[in-house]
Amino acid sequence: MINFKEIISKLISKKIEINEEELYTYIETPKDTKNGDYAFPCFCLAKELKKAPPVIANEIKEKIEQDIEQIEEIEKVEISGGYLNFYINKETLVTEVLNEIAKNEEYGKSNIGKGKNIVIDYSAPNIAKPFHIGHLRSTVIGAALYNIYKILGYNVIGINHLGDYGTQFGKLIEGYKLWGNEYDIEKDPINELTKIYVRINNLCKEDENVLNVCRDNFKKLEDGDKYCTEVWEKFRNLSLQEFKKVYDLLESKFDSWNGEAFYSDKMPEVIEILEKTGKLQESQGAKIIDLEEQGINTPCIIEKSNGSTTYATRDLAAILYRARNYDFDKALYVTSYEQLLHFKQIFEVAKLLGLDEKYTKGLEHVSFGMVLLPTGKMSTREGNVIKLEDLLNESIQRAKEIIEQKNPNLEDKEEVAKKVGIGAIIFNDLANSRVKDEIFDWDTILNFQGETGPYIQYTYVRTKSVLEKAGYMPEEKDINPEKLIDEYSLQILKLIYNFKDVLVQVTEKNEPSILSRYLIDLAKAYSSFYNENKIICEDKQMQDARIYLTYATGKVLRSGANLLGIKMPNKM
Ligand code: ARG
Repeated sequence: MINFKEIISKLISKKIEINEEELYTYIETPKDTKNGDYAFPCFCLAKELKKAPPVIANEIKEKIEQDIEQIEEIEKVEISGGYLNFYINKETLVTEVLNEIAKNEEYGKSNIGKGKNIVIDYSAPNIAKPFHIGHLRSTVIGAALYNIYKILGYNVIGINHLGDYGTQFGKLIEGYKLWGNEYDIEKDPINELTKIYVRINNLCKEDENVLNVCRDNFKKLEDGDKYCTEVWEKFRNLSLQEFKKVYDLLESKFDSWNGEAFYSDKMPEVIEILEKTGKLQESQGAKIIDLEEQGINTPCIIEKSNGSTTYATRDLAAILYRARNYDFDKALYVTSYEQLLHFKQIFEVAKLLGLDEKYTKGLEHVSFGMVLLPTGKMSTREGNVIKLEDLLNESIQRAKEIIEQKNPNLEDKEEVAKKVGIGAIIFNDLANSRVKDEIFDWDTILNFQGETGPYIQYTYVRTKSVLEKAGYMPEEKDINPEKLIDEYSLQILKLIYNFKDVLVQVTEKNEPSILSRYLIDLAKAYSSFYNENKIICEDKQMQDARIYLTYATGKVLRSGANLLGIKMPNKM
């Protein structure tokens, strides 16, 4: 596809002998189209050239004006203060975009990530504990990143690093041993196990001896004790059955289910390596790495005083394993910002594992904010948790009620309600910059007119119904580009042109909300187009062009939404 920014940076670089790539990064897209389609801010060069920005702008303009006459893609350049404003040839843009739409089955696909491996560690709920709304957010953000890296040609490995190990299992095993027969864990595993956990946890608070027995249980589990392993396996299988219900609703897929327990036999090596560095210290019977020098006040505990390992040790073993087996260029960890310290610690300690710098540089914590439910933050220990499966089903139910009101005769209401209900929750998780806390409010997330998942689906459905009403599909080669250079059509075309760029930006910041915002902009642009331009009209060429643009918009909305994990209904 023609790259207008590249044409502009080439043009300027030839005249002022500044590196083309550098210039490329300075080029902006003005908010107001009065300032052109692209703008070059000359103050970026003021220091280098030791001149005032307007002077630079004037000089560059004079030098490139003649060349521009020869370049078909650029119409003209104008000066505004210290800016050079470039106006592109609108018809070139129209032709380019429509052509690109016609020739690509999957719009946005590229191979810029070819040969690069991306590991994404996401979802990772904890066995015998509820799959809570924070895990949902991790699942949704992780999956969106997964899809976006994938469409850009990266080789992506999605890992569900299940929390299936750790001292809490020592407690659970003890609770189960004491009171297992009082609870029907086969029937309602997570809830019943949670009850056992709350009860044993309370007992541990009262009785130090019980706490020690629990700690020993986990040590026994690590050492392969038969009873402990059997009970643990039972917890794991029953929990996974429950989690699968949520994954089925979201249609989540993972390439690997290697959880924390998978690393149980891989930790001795980590400890050995760390020991050899001489940095592993004894502290109150435990083995720790001090990170004071790295500016981290809390040391990283590698082995507890009773010899059992920690969450951090398992993560270190995982880094080693993933570097060797996946040769990753990036390894992303999608969890809430509550784990900021944990990841800071293990990323520092990972530098001691003797790995190539490529790997330690590729580690990245993709953190996100809390989900604030109307009832406030939820916690497992007190056991007052909303079941996620119930939350998803409630969303589907609410979507169904809205559909029932708006379109009672719709076919496949169940199917549509599922897409809308789940889509609403997914979009809400991705709508804003991920580090922000998110407020969960039913009326907002399901508002068909708001900046929501349903709004994007609704706009898509509108494009579908326009096409259906038209009853035919013009061919791309027959479209007259002159018919699409009005303000509203151009706004859509420019957005579609930027799609791939948006996907790249998402991967640069690991921020799927960039795509969410984009889809809202595109949906809004289509709504304006739809309100301002008559699609079915006298001028057949105009009609064809507008129908085709409608088709193109639908196609991009659909691709983009699918990348976020949102399914599109055909009617709603
Ligand atoms: N199970 C953890 C939790 O629920 C998340 C695991 C994240 N991944 C990792 N490699 N530490 O908080």
